[in-house]
Amino acid sequence: MIDQRKTRELYQRATRVIPYGVSSNFRYWGDDKTLVMQRGQGSHIWDPDGNEYIDYRLGFGPVILGHGHPQVVERVAQAIREGSSLAFTTPLEIQVAERIVSMCPGVEMVRFANSGTEATLHALRLARAYTGRDLIIKFEGHYHGAHDSLLFSTASADPRQLGDHSNPTPLPSSRGIPRAVHETVISLPFNDPELLERTVRGQGHQVAAIILEPLMGNFASLEPTPGYLQLIRRLCDEHGMVMIMDEVKTGFRIAPGGAQEVYGVLPDLATYAKAIANGFPLAAFGGKRKIMQALVPGQVTHVGTYNANITGIAAADATLAILAEGKVYATLRERGEKLKQGISEILTEADLPHQVLGPPAMFGVLLTELDPVRDYRDYTHVNHQLYQRVVYGLIQRGAIPEPDCREPWFLCAAHSQADIDKTLNALADAVNEAKAIPHRKAAY
Ligand SMILES: Cc1ncc(COP(=O)(O)O)c(C=O)c1O
Repeated sequence: MIDQRKTRELYQRATRVIPYGVSSNFRYWGDDKTLVMQRGQGSHIWDPDGNEYIDYRLGFGPVILGHGHPQVVERVAQAIREGSSLAFTTPLEIQVAERIVSMCPGVEMVRFANSGTEATLHALRLARAYTGRDLIIKFEGHYHGAHDSLLFSTASADPRQLGDHSNPTPLPSSRGIPRAVHETVISLPFNDPELLERTVRGQGHQVAAIILEPLMGNFASLEPTPGYLQLIRRLCDEHGMVMIMDEVKTGFRIAPGGAQEVYGVLPDLATYAKAIANGFPLAAFGGKRKIMQALVPGQVTHVGTYNANITGIAAADATLAILAEGKVYATLRERGEKLKQGISEILTEADLPHQVLGPPAMFGVLLTELDPVRDYRDYTHVNHQLYQRVVYGLIQRGAIPEPDCREPWFLCAAHSQADIDKTLNALADAVNEAKAIPHRKAAY
């Protein structure tokens, strides 16, 4: 076992002043497992005991260039020396908006926010204002941030509680959401074209938007079945619904133009955060000019003291300039493919049925006999407990993906071939160790 004494002490200290010792529930891994991290550089992070880890969480996805990237850090330092908050439009903000419009095929205009949650909240309000309708359609296992409107049937939900497949119930992922909000949500299993068509035929005229993660960045990077995004596009056109693609995880990560570029389907609105600024807080929502122009001051509210905050904008300017060159994506593809293939070989060798899903820059690993995996309900067929044990063994050996198999492995431009080799060697040992311990199969 690696020595984590200081980490444990700091965590105990944290629990006295921060509930459960974390500022986001997603960071809580249990009283004896939650970690404290001190610093990051490139593809590596260090805990307070000085233990070094190859990082595949990358801050839940944002750090696409690597921690502490010199150009990004320098750009931010330079910008904040000239004032940290002006609450006016800045030249740099205009430049970043222009970069986004030139990179993302479906984005003609863009507004800035600070987090993915804010971006989806405002995109949704805009869609409702634009259509004059209240209902929204979302998909099970898709996560769009922490605000009430979309916090239903997310990847935190127990898939056994989602109701009948053909008559699903939106399940709140948190207590404290008013009952009235439930009534505005229709939540459907992903990748079921007939159910979607049927639902839209019945209620489409009341639906403001269909919001979706183009691939399931909160469920092992499960991809849409061929034609499914095109179907959503067509139904939105036919029924006057706004198609909102939540590219908070995929945006600027799987291609310069995100999932809309990869799948060739343009939404009406898209939301961005995470990789846009290499880990600095910035988010954006944008899309068709005619819809974005409906943000009429005094009529449709999009406000925020820190919107287009200078730190995030400066970081995005540097990050997007590098990403637009395109070279980063070749590195992510090469390293990610090697890692995906290596993981699959190790699991095959260990006789563990599995699926390695999604693009190399963010891929998921599910220990399951199911083939194909189609939607979030299939999580009941995944041995997530064994996966978790493997990952805890891997962390002990110096590589750190999220122990929850629903969260993808993220790659950054700083991951080296040596990182990949070391990770695969460590994984082989961690798998053998985890397999040797008798375990009960997960309840779901
Ligand atoms: C697809 C998606 N949308 C929205 C969000 C919310 O973003 P944030 O945590 O920045 O509020 C997340 C967070 O992981 C996400 O994965």
